[in-house]
Amino acid sequence: MGYRHRYRQQVADRFRAATARDHVIFTGRGATAIWAALKAWDFTDQPVLIPANTCYIVLWAVLLSGNRPILVDIDPLTGMITPETLSAAGIDRPAAVIPCHLYGLPAPMAESCAWATEHGAKVIEDAAQAMIMPDSRVGSWGDASIFSFGSGKLVDVGYRGALLCSDAELTAEIKRHVEPLPLYADHIAELEKQWLTIYWATHQFETENIPISSLYPTLFQIYRNIILYNAPSQGFVDVYQRLRTFLRSDPVYETSLGLRIVRAGEYDRLVGGSWRTLPRPADTVLWRYPLLVPPEVRGDLFDYLQSRRLDVTRWYPSLQAMTRALCPEVDQPPTPHADHFAECILNLPLTWPGDPPERIIAAILDYRNEQRL
Ligand SMILES: Cc1ncc(COP(=O)(O)O)c(C=O)c1O
Repeated sequence: MGYRHRYRQQVADRFRAATARDHVIFTGRGATAIWAALKAWDFTDQPVLIPANTCYIVLWAVLLSGNRPILVDIDPLTGMITPETLSAAGIDRPAAVIPCHLYGLPAPMAESCAWATEHGAKVIEDAAQAMIMPDSRVGSWGDASIFSFGSGKLVDVGYRGALLCSDAELTAEIKRHVEPLPLYADHIAELEKQWLTIYWATHQFETENIPISSLYPTLFQIYRNIILYNAPSQGFVDVYQRLRTFLRSDPVYETSLGLRIVRAGEYDRLVGGSWRTLPRPADTVLWRYPLLVPPEVRGDLFDYLQSRRLDVTRWYPSLQAMTRALCPEVDQPPTPHADHFAECILNLPLTWPGDPPERIIAAILDYRNEQRL
């Protein structure tokens, strides 16, 4: 094996060792991996359960696979789908369930997998916002797990994803679907940039201005090619090095999990009164810090922080508006808790070159003082 492929092998080995999975398939992005698993199982026009507050790209991957996305509500305290909310979605025999480690927090995987077994569904563990870590079972749940190395993720090389499983037949089938896909190239990067610029605007207003969501079918046609691609099989030095740095517990390293833990602890100062965060076990490594503020405050605070050029976002909106626009023929169960969550959420950055928490914390405290909150 040439030196260029040695790094890919080493990354794959680390993933296998951390998850006890047998197979690692690298893809152009995490969304491609979700699509490929659904295709490999040969599901068509089947219900696939996804959290109503996950990333829109999961919805797009399910749609492109030719299946029917069904939105699942969340537990209002943890932000995660649970067996109760899965049952409440009213689909007795879904083809698959895609629980997500939202913000890198541990989703109740054992319970969701048990629910899926009872209902004859496959499970794709969505670990795009999480990463392999010591003493963690992330990546080992369900029939397949997907990871992302995309922009803003815990190990960020700008693109790339991975699928892990222990089923040789599934692996062969996934490879068969992935191999013909185009290679990541400048025109895909350009399309992604365009789409994210547009979505940055639409997602902020689609709930209060419903007709905005009528743009989504056209936008999906224009931008659907950003979902499915491969990445070169060489060039893994970057992934290898960034993964190593991420896995350091010493917070002196800018992109280490150690720094993320320390910074999340600093943000905890903002919590109190009607402001909260999602509960997290000690030493949880967060993707971004989820701050939940009353909906009547959220928009104004967001504008205030934006005007100070602070890297604060409002991901993710409830997927109700986009889903209804993209597949109006599929009845969606109500998802009041996820919809409310989406109206309260602010995401605060945890790594450089995002702003250091002190500036963001100071700005938020200023805002609270000014508004007497
Ligand atoms: C929850 C979630 N699932 C899946 C994905 C897909 O990852 P990628 O961007 O690598 O396709 C993302 C990232 O955008 C995500 O946030």
